[in-house]
Amino acid sequence: MLTCQAPGIEEYAESKTQSPCALLNELQRETHQKMRVPQMLTGPLEGTFLRLMAASISAKSILEVGMFTGYSALSMAEGLPADGKLVTLEIEPEHIAMAKKYFERSEHGKKIEVIEGPALDSLKKLKGPFDLVFIDADKENYINYYEDILPKVRPGGVILVDNVLWGGKVLDPQSTSDRAVCAFNDHVCKDDRVDRVLLTVRDGVFFLRKK
Ligand SMILES: C[S@@+](CC[C@H](N)C(=O)[O-])C[C@H]1O[C@@H](n2cnc3c(N)ncnc32)[C@H](O)[C@@H]1O
Repeated sequence: MLTCQAPGIEEYAESKTQSPCALLNELQRETHQKMRVPQMLTGPLEGTFLRLMAASISAKSILEVGMFTGYSALSMAEGLPADGKLVTLEIEPEHIAMAKKYFERSEHGKKIEVIEGPALDSLKKLKGPFDLVFIDADKENYINYYEDILPKVRPGGVILVDNVLWGGKVLDPQSTSDRAVCAFNDHVCKDDRVDRVLLTVRDGVFFLRKK
């Protein structure tokens, strides 16, 4: 979803960005054919950003909250070294089934562990330390995820939080999820444990670096 840019700009940015591999394109197509809300998938621009972020900080340990059909997980796994590991948390069995089909076909799939269930429960079993975290699940729990995860991130590690512009609704919040995204954004602005920049990539990505 494009929040704050002129028509055509996202497509232009995508056209100037390195293309994803054929398998990610196929995953995107199947997600659009079979899933009820396919726009949840991050897509080529943000997926490539995530892959390059993982590689740029030499991440070896990644955590994802909210996998959907696996596009962002597979993108980040591509940026990991052969002995790197990505743990991803997802609640919907239907999403997990499609993702796993693609992980099995990818040389990077063996780096990925999927934990099924409510993410807040799964997080209790994880200790870290994580180099990179991508938070992209239910907005109402964004502050809970962040507070659980920050102590498990190594100093200098990065937390990326998706949809923080929420289709522009942060400017005039009406619903519970609108207010949850605003509350999260305000929460991190008061937190001096992290450096921060809100990027206008796609639907807004908060880039937080643990001090
Ligand atoms: C926006 S989608 C994730 C998109 C994914 N990162 C991608 O790039 O394709 C959000 C996902 O979070 C999952 N989710 C929602 N609430 C959850 C919860 N409490 N625990 C775990 N997963 C949850 C949804 O089932 C959905 O698959």
